[in-house]
Amino acid sequence: MPTVLVVEDDQSTRESLCAALRDGGMEVVAAAGGAEAMHRLDLAPVDVVVSDVMMPGLSGIELLSHIQEHHPDTAVILVTAYGTIESAVDAMRRGAYDYVTKPINLDRLELLVQRAHRRQSLLRENRELRRQLRSQFSAAGIIGQSPSMQEILRQVEQIAPTNASVLIQGESGTGKELVATAIHHHSQRAEGPLVKVSCVALAEGLIESELFGHERGAFTGAHRLRRGRFELANSGTLFLDEVGDLSVATQLKLLRAIQEREIERVGGHTPIHVDVRLIAATNRDLEEAMREGRFREELYYRLKVVTLRIPPLRERPDDIPLLSEFFLGSFCKEHQKSIRGITPAAQQRLNAHSWPGNVRELRNCIESLVVTVRGEEISVKDLPPGLSDAAPQSIDFALGWPLEEIERRYILRTLESLGNNKARAAQVLGISKKTLYRRLHEWGIPLDPEEEAKDEESDQGQR
Ligand SMILES: Nc1ncnc2c1ncn2[C@@H]1O[C@H](COP(=O)(O)OP(=O)(O)OP(=O)(O)O)[C@@H](O)[C@H]1O
Ligand SMILES: [Mg+2]
Repeated sequence: MPTVLVVEDDQSTRESLCAALRDGGMEVVAAAGGAEAMHRLDLAPVDVVVSDVMMPGLSGIELLSHIQEHHPDTAVILVTAYGTIESAVDAMRRGAYDYVTKPINLDRLELLVQRAHRRQSLLRENRELRRQLRSQFSAAGIIGQSPSMQEILRQVEQIAPTNASVLIQGESGTGKELVATAIHHHSQRAEGPLVKVSCVALAEGLIESELFGHERGAFTGAHRLRRGRFELANSGTLFLDEVGDLSVATQLKLLRAIQEREIERVGGHTPIHVDVRLIAATNRDLEEAMREGRFREELYYRLKVVTLRIPPLRERPDDIPLLSEFFLGSFCKEHQKSIRGITPAAQQRLNAHSWPGNVRELRNCIESLVVTVRGEEISVKDLPPGLSDAAPQSIDFALGWPLEEIERRYILRTLESLGNNKARAAQVLGISKKTLYRRLHEWGIPLDPEEEAKDEESDQGQR
């Protein structure tokens, strides 16, 4: 519930405004003028200020500028008499959330205050995420605040300056290439080349000449000399992506190159010295491949001097809000859209999703939302099907809790996750609405009598 400061010089208007907002469950304080309002805000900030525009002394507009400068988290709604609407519109341009005209429709005012509060919390949340993003966004461009990603970042920092070979394991889309790139950029070879080879994209016959190059005339079609990736990576880093896909024969040649620090071009006879640091990545289980004889043991140990295992996104859901915010910002820029944020409910769905395609899938999802969403924020209804239907959520109970407490929490959480829709909750819980209402009464949860009566009617209608 928002806290509200009502600023109005006319005592009876002030009192009726305060009473109406208090009836709506809000915490309300009042001030008789702009100066008093400033003073009160300095003492205790509020979520929303509802202020008259025309007041003796400091006007509502002046108060607005003060609030914008000193209390950016507070939303301002202006109250204006009929003839001064123009100045209120002008005030909105200067950042007021909205305005109402006298005589005030109290229901509308209450709704506006609620909305302003929601918008303000959303902005605050975004700002907080952005702040975290700045501190988390390591120079490497790897985002992650979860303990497991923090540990990866720490290891990247530690191993980057060494010359050790690194094996990066992780499911598809977890950021293996990103980490490999970061290691190179933080190494002493950063000035040298970073050459990437995808071992999966290469046909068996081609891979050797791709890696080691070939001499002119080495085979039909080899019209000229070609340097391989090893040579091109000289004094830099060679990133072998999907290394688990290499054939055993190529693995042997690779092993030799690593051991001897020398390669021979296909069709050539002179060994060429290469100074290359190796980073390999795979989404396969190399140990299993080794046991099954599909991966050479010596090569495995050569590659995995240091091993980094990047956890799948579902194992580090605390990274999801930060990554979403980051992708939202960068795609808004790229597609020239201005979406302010993701609503808390939508963010919750994103957090609960299992993301089988990991960060890449999240990135694609946010990009398509940025392109398609029309409004100012991304809400649940914008999410693609698998995400917009009730996402599976979980709730933890400690052993030893009384069943009644478990029931209470479970029912309340279900209600909350369904936006307080009692009919849906009853359906999901497999109980009648009447039972649901009875429980809520027992627990002293305040209910809307009108809604209850309506629900009861429809309940009876169903029978
Ligand atoms: N922690 C992260 N912070 C920011 N962006 C990330 C992060 N992890 C992954 N990404 C982004 O997600 C996408 C996929 O990452 P990347 O290509 O590194 O994954 P991968 O593990 O190599 O996947 P694959 O196994 O499919 O090749 C990229 O656009 C990358 O920039
Ligand atoms: Mg990759």
